[in-house]
Amino acid sequence: MEKIRIGFVGCGQFCRAFVPLFSAHPAVEYVAVCDKFRERAENFYERFGCDEIFDSFDEMIASDRINAVAIFTQRDLHGTMAIAALKAGKHVYSAVPMALKVDEILEIVRLVKETGLTYSMGETGIYRPASIFCRKKYAAGEIGNLVYAEAQYNHDMSRLYHVFQYTEGDAWRKMAGLPPLFYPTHSTSMVLSATKAHALRVAAFGYEEKQDTDIFGEGKNYWDNPFSNTSMLLKMSDGSVVRISENRRIAWHTPETYITGFHGDKASYECSLMQHSFIKKDDKSVIYEDVSDLLNPIELTKHKGEENFLSEAVKGTWGGTEAPIQAVSRLPEEFAPLHTGHAGTHKFMVDDFCQAVVSGYLSPTNAWQAARYNLPGLIGHESAMRGGVCLAVPDAGDPPAHIPVLSEDRTENPDNYSRFRKKE
Ligand SMILES: NC(=O)c1ccc[n+]([C@@H]2O[C@H](COP(=O)([O-])OP(=O)(O)OC[C@H]3O[C@@H](n4cnc5c(N)ncnc54)[C@H](O)[C@@H]3O)[C@@H](O)[C@H]2O)c1
Repeated sequence: MEKIRIGFVGCGQFCRAFVPLFSAHPAVEYVAVCDKFRERAENFYERFGCDEIFDSFDEMIASDRINAVAIFTQRDLHGTMAIAALKAGKHVYSAVPMALKVDEILEIVRLVKETGLTYSMGETGIYRPASIFCRKKYAAGEIGNLVYAEAQYNHDMSRLYHVFQYTEGDAWRKMAGLPPLFYPTHSTSMVLSATKAHALRVAAFGYEEKQDTDIFGEGKNYWDNPFSNTSMLLKMSDGSVVRISENRRIAWHTPETYITGFHGDKASYECSLMQHSFIKKDDKSVIYEDVSDLLNPIELTKHKGEENFLSEAVKGTWGGTEAPIQAVSRLPEEFAPLHTGHAGTHKFMVDDFCQAVVSGYLSPTNAWQAARYNLPGLIGHESAMRGGVCLAVPDAGDPPAHIPVLSEDRTENPDNYSRFRKKE
């Protein structure tokens, strides 16, 4: 079994939550860090007991002391860094998004295919409870053919602009004005991970920001992007229609990433705030099932029925724990005392990458799948900029059929997987 020797690039705000998890995973034996602000890497080195500090990303990927990198730099750097790391023979874990350019995404897929290395995108969306629920029901055939689904990432950034200031300093607005559809994976993944279908065509419309006009608009950001909120409609390869909304400037807090509707010809899932409903058709009627307690965080459910339940729930007051549907038992026991985040998803993403490297299986968020979560947004933004014109979405194809994908609840024995790692 190949042990993982991982180098983190980007010791910023998000990475903080991941170094302890990777360090604790039984498949990881060496942890290095690097940041363009050396004091940030030094802080991580001391705080998390890392093994080495590298002066630069280039030096790190040239080193044979590591065999994997975890990319936690700002979003416009992921594509070039993943490509460089794969070319240097390293497995790649990357924070979302995969890349901001179509060419870079296709190149990452090509390199993963050529080298047989692991690529895993750290996508929180697929381990959100609603995503797990719809995926399992779909796989079991209970949904039938997917007809229509809608998911959104309602993430009001106006309270969070300080996160950009941390690294960008006075130029933070240039980065904060990222087109919302360049970061579509939290919502696309929630639906597409169930059906594994890919987008054929996209039409999108954007909302031109009326308040933060110093961030959104021509010349205001690196992309001349005027939209703070954008929605796209996708025609999928399985015949379904999917609506995705990426809202960054609305009066909303929680839930932030969620599926509102997942409708098949046999059954439907719907969510409104903390109410999760599953409705099945039978010969004569429809059957209602309230699945809220399965999907809501355990801590939140304890407060159900209290007078202030909804007013506290929409503030995210009880959102920090896992939900019963999340297969916590599959995780390494070393993770148990450690902090998780984003609705209990962090531990699953780290475990996916580590299990994929040691087993040779594909991570659920492998390069092919990640491409399908990212590409519709890049083309969708172009559609919105052109007034909603319907455009074709490129596809990088299916993952190689001879390499299995790690299963949801890990019923396999990872020690048997190594034969699958082979170069094509
Ligand atoms: N839910 C999620 O999945 C989620 C949540 C938050 C952030 N993110 C992603 O995580 C990434 C990091 O976000 P963040 O808030 O931690 O940003 P951040 O600005 O706090 O951290 C980025 C770090 O990368 C470093 N860096 C930049 N270029 C570098 C280089 N060439 N070499 C070495 N270090 C370099 C910066 O100095 C900084 O410390 C973003 O891409 C974001 O999209 C994902």
